[in-house]
This record gives sequence, C-alpha cells and structure tokens, in this order.
Amino acid sequence: MSELGVFEFQGKRYEFPIEIGTEKEISIDIKTLRGVTGGVITMDPGFKNTGSCKSKITFLDGEKGILRHRGYAIEELTKKASFLEVAYLIIFGELPTKKQFAKFEGDVKNNSLLDEEIKDILDGFPRSAHPMGVVSSLTSALTAFHPKCIDIHSEEKMYNATVNILGKFPVIAAWAHAKNEGTPFNYADNSLDYIENMLMMMYKIPTTKYKTNPVVKKAMEELLILHQDHEQNCSTSTVRLVGSSHASLFASVSAGVSALWGPLHGGANQAVIEMLEEIINDGGDVDKFIKKAKDKNDPFRLMGFGHRVYKNFDPRALIIKKSADAVLANLGVNDPTLKVAKHLEEVALNDPYFIERKLFPNVDFYSGIIYRALGIPVEMFTVMFAIGRLPGWIAQWREMRLNKEPIGRPRQLYMGATKRAFKPYSER
Ligand code: ACO
Repeated sequence: MSELGVFEFQGKRYEFPIEIGTEKEISIDIKTLRGVTGGVITMDPGFKNTGSCKSKITFLDGEKGILRHRGYAIEELTKKASFLEVAYLIIFGELPTKKQFAKFEGDVKNNSLLDEEIKDILDGFPRSAHPMGVVSSLTSALTAFHPKCIDIHSEEKMYNATVNILGKFPVIAAWAHAKNEGTPFNYADNSLDYIENMLMMMYKIPTTKYKTNPVVKKAMEELLILHQDHEQNCSTSTVRLVGSSHASLFASVSAGVSALWGPLHGGANQAVIEMLEEIINDGGDVDKFIKKAKDKNDPFRLMGFGHRVYKNFDPRALIIKKSADAVLANLGVNDPTLKVAKHLEEVALNDPYFIERKLFPNVDFYSGIIYRALGIPVEMFTVMFAIGRLPGWIAQWREMRLNKEPIGRPRQLYMGATKRAFKPYSER
C-alpha cells in the first residue's frame, strides 16, 4: 500500500504509513509521531479513534451489525458449537479436532478443584458482598495458590494458566453465589460438560437430587457463547493493559472482572432489570422514562441502549431477543419485564433522539430477562457475563503476550500548575 497519512505542523510535513486490515479497516501508524515531531502527541479520550493493537481474534462492524470470531459468524457459532469449542477457537485460532478438544476439555476439568483454603478467604467476606467483588478478589488470590502460573514466558506455561483459570473460574463464581445464599459450596463433577457443571455448582443443594433442565442448559450455553469476545472493549483492554506489564493471567483477568462490573459495561445487564422493575413499580409509564433518558439535566440513561461501536442493531441483542421469547415460553415464565422491555424498545426505536444518535438495544437489554427466567439472581448477572467473557480475555491476553507487545503506557497533555515555590505549612 503506497498511500501515506500526512501531518503538517509548524511548516514541516510528516508522513506516516497506512495499514489496511483483512476486512479493509484502515489505520494510520503514528508510532513515530512524538519522536519525529519533537513531542507532539494525539489526544483521544475514551480511545474512540485509537487502535491499541493488531488482532486476529474478533471482527465486528458496528455499522452493519456484524460479529465474527476467527472468521466464523456469531449466529453460526451459537447454533453449532459448544461453549468450550468456541473458547478453543477464540484462544487458539482454529476449531479443535476431536483429539484436540478431548485433551483441552480434559485439562480444563482436571483443573476444576479449588484449594480448600479459598473457603477461609470467603469466610472473611460479608454475606451481602457483591459477587463481582468476590470473584475479582478470588481470581487474584489464585496467584497465591498457583505461583507457577505467575511467571509466564512460554506457550506451555500460558496453556497451563489457561486451563487452570478456565477450570476454576466457574467454581469461584458458584462459591461467590453460595456465599450470598448461605448454601454449601459445591465441587465440580468432571462427568458433566462445562455448562452443565457450572449450572450444577450454582443450583445443587445437598437435600435434593440435581438434574439439568435441557432448556436452561441450551439457553445458558447460547448466552455465554454470545459473550465470549468483543474485541477491545473496556474489560478486554484492561486485561491486555494489565498483562502488558507481564502481570499474570490471573491478575489480568481479576482486573478485567473489575472493569466489567461497571454499569456502563457488563454491569448494564443488572442495571437493565433494575430499570425495568423501577418502571413497573412506578406505574409502567414508559414515555416518562424515555423523556428522562433524553433530558440532559437528568443522569438517567436508558440502560441496555447504545454502544460505543454498534451504530446499528447489536447482532447479539437480535439473537437474545429471539431466544428470550422462546425460553420464557418453554419454561412457562410470565415475566412482566419482557413486556415493558419490548414496549420501551419500540418507543425508543421510533424516537428521533435515539434514531439520530443511532442508539439501539445492546447485548444487555434482553440478557437479564433470560437470566432471571433461568433462576439466576440479579447480582449474579454480571458474573455470568464474566464466565462468558473469560475465553475472550484469555485469548486477548495470550495474543498480546505472543505478539510481544510493549507495556501499555499512554501519554497525557499536562494542564496543571506550572513551576511554583513551595509555601511552608506555617505560612498557609
Ligand atoms: N440513554 C440515553 N442517551 C444515551 C444513551 C442511553 N443509553 N447512550 C448514549 N446516549 C446519548 C448520549 O447522552 C450522547 O448524547 P449527546 O450526543 O447529545 O451528548 C450520545 O448518545 C452519545 O453517547 P456517548 O455516551 O458519547 O457514547 P459512548 O460511546 O461514549 O457510550 C455507552 C456508549 C457507554 C454504552 C452508552 O451508550 C451508555 O451509557 N449506554 C447505557 C449503558 C449500557 O447499556 N452499557 C452496556 C454497553 S454493552 C457492553 O458493555 C457489554
């Protein structure tokens, strides 16, 4: 490609290479900008125009509503593959052969036992602790129990850390839930597959025989596949940034969990249900809440609407919306929030405020309704998202390490006081 990005400043002309991705996305490589100009930097709060890496994992086109992992359409992956198969694809780049899958699944299962001392740490949390805080803390605590997984300088060590965290993360999630509920901590059953195991650990109580409901399993698997990766979002960028200092996978994922927790990111699935309930409790006046969302003096936002990248329907929301109807009907659940959600969506999609700003329902708009129908408590919604997103975090962390990316360290434009004399305490 011969075209160049040109920048003129103080009478000088600087040229920067243009690079085009496999899906025709264009970037200007400004790596040398500061050096050649003697100090000029770019300013892009929120990184709305800034590429942080080259990646082969996920392609999304926010204008057309396209999402593909390693070239495979999300619509196809949710229908034709299991959660762990998609995880393998995302992490290692290709769909696994039967032999590769058997080894990978076996290795994940063989790492599903948590150290008993983790229970002592859990003891220290109040029962009311939000499970996202607990999951983040315990994921970080894994570094103490698996010191060999801290220093990672080979593919073999990366693989060991990968299967270790994939095996243990659902157990941590289930134990965080059990802590809230005051129920006994369940152990993994390696005769079950990944999703069945996760559901069993969350729901089984010692007094009753647990049996997986196939409708629940199918819906959960589809939901979690949908969440596996979404390129350089807030939590994934966090994982890559933390990992860029060569912090361990566990420490990086723990930071990712914290980033995901916020209501503008993964925490939106909890916020959506709370918003829908607020609307119902307030008398069900959808127009009133649409008005609030449009009012710049009101902090209220329509949760589950809008996306940094999608300026069209979030393809994941389309799949989830369809599945919400089917799952609720199948389980015989009549949830009034689904009706309010559909009404809200219809009003918003026809309102010039939302049309002009290209605000469409995102993945979180309907997912909470399904989680609730499946019996997941509201505080666990974002934890479910984290379980789904874990393979993406691992894949992005691994890619960053294999690409030998430099430590992430943005610049700033200093706007504070210039040099001044110190005033002693006695004179202030
Ligand atoms: N309700 C009302 N107005 C909104 C909403 C919303 N949900 N989202 C964006 N807007 C408005 C903004 O006020 C702004 O209006 P303006 O141009 O008049 O100032 C315009 O649309 C652009 O919004 P930004 O906040 O600049 O867009 P950004 O890309 O920074 O934010 C975000 C994206 C955070 C997702 C935002 O749309 C939002 O807060 N949505 C609600 C929370 C949510 O659902 N988050 C989950 C996202 S999906 C995920 O992370 C898994």
